Amino acid sequence: MALLDSLPSAVSIYEVSPRDGLQNESAQVATHAKVRLIEALVDAGLRRIEVTSFVSPKWVPQMADAEPVCAMIEREPSVQYSALCPNGRGLERAKSARVDEVAVFVSASETHNRKNVNKTIAQTLEAFEAVIEPAAAVGLKVRAYVSTMWGCPYEGDVDPRRGLEIAKELLRRGCYQVSLGDTIGVGTPLQTRRILELFLAELHPEQIALHLHDTRGTALANVLVGLAMGITTYDSSVAGLGGCPYAPGAAGNLATEDLVYTLRGMGIETGVDLDKLWQAGKIAEAIVGRELPGKVHRAGVRSLAH
Ligand code: HMG
Ligand code: MG
Repeated sequence: MALLDSLPSAVSIYEVSPRDGLQNESAQVATHAKVRLIEALVDAGLRRIEVTSFVSPKWVPQMADAEPVCAMIEREPSVQYSALCPNGRGLERAKSARVDEVAVFVSASETHNRKNVNKTIAQTLEAFEAVIEPAAAVGLKVRAYVSTMWGCPYEGDVDPRRGLEIAKELLRRGCYQVSLGDTIGVGTPLQTRRILELFLAELHPEQIALHLHDTRGTALANVLVGLAMGITTYDSSVAGLGGCPYAPGAAGNLATEDLVYTLRGMGIETGVDLDKLWQAGKIAEAIVGRELPGKVHRAGVRSLAH
């Protein structure tokens, strides 16, 4: 079948559960529990982890313990510890906390951007002048998100050409990769192909990642399109933890176990130990105190009848 004829041999997973997952939990999660989760994810073989956000604690109180989280993690040298960073204040905090990478974020739709960071898209890009170049100057890697690429909770359809212009600007300024966000999980495969065709006409596949929320169960179908088109970085969240506090209806990210299970079955290397990852999902579930939606998380890695 043509879709599956040329697939990458390896994929890089960017784990977002400690940030995208926990930012949306109504229960206050203790700092030591977050650290336990992060260390379990490292133990499972994940090597790129977004551990927290240096955003305003008034806007996202769940991330108010960013400094103690970073201070308490037992660092594994092969792991890239990353954090969300909206402005110069965030960068100063990120530098003091010794993260390896910061991630800036902006939406492809004005209304979501305004609700999320209280600024227009243009003002947001301007605020990144205090983040991208200064971070790179001190040796930090800088990643970027362009949210609402597949649809906006306030405006509906979004023109992907706007997202492409923003992405090109962020790459030009020094971000090494732009992660395209299906913030509210509305995307379907042909739409994903159209978006990626547009992006790949001007960018290299390594400059693009997919950040898919699995609200309607379409995330893996969209990953398949990404794989067929040469995209090798996918963001995901253990057990499907996740959401965005400023996107009503945004459910969890694609579950990391579902992604790893599928890729493993296709012979695509991720470096992740699925059994250990499943255990990390159990930790995530215990610390948030509610059932999490990931399919492999719920069904188990294998289903042998007793
Ligand atoms: P503002 O209120 O417009 O900004 O917020 P401000 O500059 O006037 O600052 C207000 C107060 O916040 C001041 O304190 C600042 O010092 C403080 P006060 O004088 O009132 O005491 N402040 C900060 N404190 C700590 N760290 C900082 C910081 N900056 C200002 N970095 C701001 C603007 C951007 C700060 C705010 O809107 C904000 O923090 N927004 C973050 C929202 C957020 O985190 N959303 C979720 C993440 S995005 C997402 O989930 C999508 C994604 O997953 C991709 C996808 O799914 O598509 C990435
Ligand atoms: Mg997200």
